[in-house]
Amino acid sequence: MKNFEFYNPVKVIFGKGQISKLKENININNKIMMVYGGGSIKSNGIYEQVKTSLADHNLIEFGGVEANPQYDTLMQAVDLARKEKVDFILAVGGGSVVDGTKFISAAINFDGDPWTILSENKSFENPIPFGAVLTLAATGSEMNCFSVVSRGSDKLGFGHPSLFSKFSILDPEVTYSLPEKQLGNGIVDAFVHVLEQYLTINVNSPLQDRFAEGILMTLLEEGPKVIHVKDDYESRANFMWSATMALNGLIGSGVVHDWATHMIGHELTALYGIDHARTLAVVLPSLLREQMDKKLNRLDQMAQRVFKITEGTPESRAKECILMIEDFFNSMGLPTKLSVYKVNEEEIPKIIESLKSHIPVNLGEHSDIDSEKVNRILMAAL
Ligand code: NZQ
Ligand code: ZN
Repeated sequence: MKNFEFYNPVKVIFGKGQISKLKENININNKIMMVYGGGSIKSNGIYEQVKTSLADHNLIEFGGVEANPQYDTLMQAVDLARKEKVDFILAVGGGSVVDGTKFISAAINFDGDPWTILSENKSFENPIPFGAVLTLAATGSEMNCFSVVSRGSDKLGFGHPSLFSKFSILDPEVTYSLPEKQLGNGIVDAFVHVLEQYLTINVNSPLQDRFAEGILMTLLEEGPKVIHVKDDYESRANFMWSATMALNGLIGSGVVHDWATHMIGHELTALYGIDHARTLAVVLPSLLREQMDKKLNRLDQMAQRVFKITEGTPESRAKECILMIEDFFNSMGLPTKLSVYKVNEEEIPKIIESLKSHIPVNLGEHSDIDSEKVNRILMAAL
């Protein structure tokens, strides 16, 4: 196992009716800015629950954060927070709102051009504390310190240990109003988060492996119920907790990470507006086939332990494992071909150029995924 430091200070408040605990978790003297998205919280009752719990608090609102939060919108929130001397931010939304809130938090006291926090990884001081009411299970942003922000064709990430939320409220019932498409996206995003930390190099980390396999098996079991059984509390709860655990640092401690699928996927979102999880469903199977020789042992382990494929050779089991992953993505409603999104061969050089401009180094756990490999991965994904 590799050396590691594990730090996660987020207080998770999980379960039915827990939004009412907001008032106990934010100081009455705070000047709060509530940040939310395009309005789903107003039609599904979450907004009312938040307002009721914080009725005696000093609260202003900033709505309109987009899916794949846009820098210019977030800067409007920064201006408002500076003007109103906000000292606590409450994110109410999915990964986009939580990520956007992290950026707002870092930018408020930043002296200089806040874009450089993303573009040049500039350090920042005194981020404004924030909490979250999660409305969409997928990214793990509610319990990690990463954030992804978009500006035109740039989709860039940053992270810092000062950007963990003070608390995150996870009420599985808030997911009842999610459309099937967003549920499928969330399940696949969480599944791929696990694979980016599990299908890499064997470093003799049996505990992390079994945590990862536990999350994968739970998502495989609960995913179909989440999609097909309406308002089923138990499956929503298990899915929501799995998504949080998939990217809160635990399963990734002491192991080697990949993240190439995410990096290529971010370009597809930035250039063509494809939902985050949908980019992953397209890129991952093709990337696994390209990297088959390097990932063979891990794919074989996953085949045997997760999909219970015991017949055949390591190669045949690894290939079957990738087919099973593809089948799962398809069954969650996510296509695994780029052509579905009308992205054709002529676009590939542009995608690679954009990727190189954002990440000039090779990708993958062996740092061996260069432009030629990305080209082959995308060609095979068409
Ligand atoms: O904006 P509203 O009206 O709220 O609608 C949202 C949005 O249109 C809707 N929604 C959210 N909760 C709902 C709901 N609709 C009905 N009922 C509810 N309860 O769902 C749509 C998508 O929301 P969004 O927040 O964009 O989805 P998600 O949570 O998948 O977040 C995606 C973003 O997170 C980034 C992605 O790149 C993308 O920008 N990621 C963040 C990560 C992190 N911080 O660690 C890791 C991930 O890999 C990912 O990159
Ligand atoms: Zn993701």
